[in-house]
Amino acid sequence: MVQRRKPIIAANWKMYKTPDEGKIFAEGFSLDAAIAQEVEVVICPPFTVIPAIGEVLKEKGIKWGAQNLYPAVEGAFTGEISPLMLKDLGCTYVIIGHSERRQIMGETDDFIRKKVIAAFTYDLLPIFCVGETLEQRKANQTEEVCSNQILQGLDGIKSEDIARMVIAYEPVWAIGTGVNASPEDAEKTIAFLRQLISEKWGKEAGEAVRIQYGGSVKPGNIKELMNCANIDGALVGGASLKVDSFYEIVRCAGEEAKKHGV
Ligand code: 13P
Repeated sequence: MVQRRKPIIAANWKMYKTPDEGKIFAEGFSLDAAIAQEVEVVICPPFTVIPAIGEVLKEKGIKWGAQNLYPAVEGAFTGEISPLMLKDLGCTYVIIGHSERRQIMGETDDFIRKKVIAAFTYDLLPIFCVGETLEQRKANQTEEVCSNQILQGLDGIKSEDIARMVIAYEPVWAIGTGVNASPEDAEKTIAFLRQLISEKWGKEAGEAVRIQYGGSVKPGNIKELMNCANIDGALVGGASLKVDSFYEIVRCAGEEAKKHGV
């Protein structure tokens, strides 16, 4: 029998919060044991905030991650951060290929692939983001765009590693807009991506890999999203910045997971 995937709710704080603000959040956010059993919670703050909140999160059974890395262990790469430095800060996860980095920093699939390899080399688990723009969606290219991002960005990655990592389907038009993909649409694309992964890396990897939805996730829509068989959690931007809204998202996800049995 296939084991049910444990949902993962990750906060992407983007370029928000100072160390002090992060600490206030971490001290005010707690998971009760029942929820922690149903859902994995990860916070991805700016680099400068990580040392300020790691210990607080650890005591509460909450994992943390970074929002980026550079694919080299050290060297003359001004302004960049190495996977080893992130590992040293206790990061478990690292967000790679976020659409903001693809679009604003011009990151290519090939560069993103190097980052994925670097993450695995230093024992960090990628939260690998894919998603189509509004134009691509209107042109009916959602599946093509997301499959290319997966096939190129994850080319050469072993099936065992695919099974351990996290993929986030984040339609670009849904990020920070208040307009989320409908649960039906998100489920359809995520089911397609799971099938793609099964075909390329084997059924076991396809069944094991957790695929999140991201894009305007809020307390009001998490339940319906979590009700979908292939959606294994969420990558949350804006609504993860406040303790109350992020807690409510995690709580609802835990409740849904409990109903469906992890
Ligand atoms: P919002 O939740 O603010 O739409 O951001 C989503 C996102 O980009 C998470 O990585």
